[in-house]
Amino acid sequence: MSNSINKAVSSAPAKVILFGEHFVVYNNPAIVAAINKRIHVGAQTNNKLHINIRSGENSICILTKGNANPVLIRDKDMLFLYPIFKCVSHVLSEKKKSNIGIDLDIDSQIPYGEGLGSSAASCVATVAALYSLFSDNNRNQIYETSKLMEQNIHKNSSGVDCYVCTFGGIINYEPDKGFSNIRPKKKFTLLIGSTGVKHSTGEVVSQVKEFRDKNSSQFKNLSLKANVIYKRALNSMLEGDELELGRMFTENQKLLSALGVSHPKIEKMIDVCLNSGALGAKLTGAGRGGAIIALLPHDKSTEMVAKISKSPGKWMVVEFDYNGVIVG
Ligand code: PMV
Repeated sequence: MSNSINKAVSSAPAKVILFGEHFVVYNNPAIVAAINKRIHVGAQTNNKLHINIRSGENSICILTKGNANPVLIRDKDMLFLYPIFKCVSHVLSEKKKSNIGIDLDIDSQIPYGEGLGSSAASCVATVAALYSLFSDNNRNQIYETSKLMEQNIHKNSSGVDCYVCTFGGIINYEPDKGFSNIRPKKKFTLLIGSTGVKHSTGEVVSQVKEFRDKNSSQFKNLSLKANVIYKRALNSMLEGDELELGRMFTENQKLLSALGVSHPKIEKMIDVCLNSGALGAKLTGAGRGGAIIALLPHDKSTEMVAKISKSPGKWMVVEFDYNGVIVG
């Protein structure tokens, strides 16, 4: 194998959607941020013509050339592993290396199906590790390929998740201008609460499509409101106005509830945060379960986290990640 190595490692961060989930699928803006939880991938070539993927107790083994013919499946979560297989097989075929096998080891700190970008991060880290095996570390290419691969998970993917998992940071997405970095004037404190209820992004995105098909003027009206909230949120970040930013979280949540993507556990966890003094809270990602984010007053966050953490759910304060995908 010329110009290639036989081992590579990479990692990619989780993400939160701060504003604009679902609306972004229909040409509306969004603000997304990478956070300090990662998925690590180790890739190694083998001469058995098998693609072996292992993640904790789950594993799949598929013939390199027989994409549709699993030779051994020991999984509890094919939903999670199969798109990763598609990433591997896509890069092998793009690099005209379908005559080799790959062993892939995955170690993830990102819960699956909770709206924190586990699918996007796993695509980005897998594609990056595979490209790296062939001495190709072009980030734009990693992004383009993983965006394409995420469509194996849900067809209407907006691509924002893969972008932020590749490049890191707090990202502003505007359909007519593309992606740009946001540098908030002040540091702000974000708390994530996981409901423990898994969702399928593809299913929730399809339900929203159905809602939009049946209620087009209501959807238009909600999109207009989402755009106003996005603009006010962006300004409040640039101006360091955490009170206004918190209010926008809660306003955005009302729109997501109206879209039908909230969940009783989400509503409960949001109430706990707001009643404990959070400046605002909303679901993040596809919804119907998954996770919420709450903005805490920066100077009082420690006491507040101690109080909120006593209530049901899994809570963690997160930092933003500015590295994006790391290879090697
Ligand atoms: O739940 P997640 O992390 O897969 O986020 C999905 C975000 C959506 O806006 C609902 C879909 C998309 O592709 O942007």
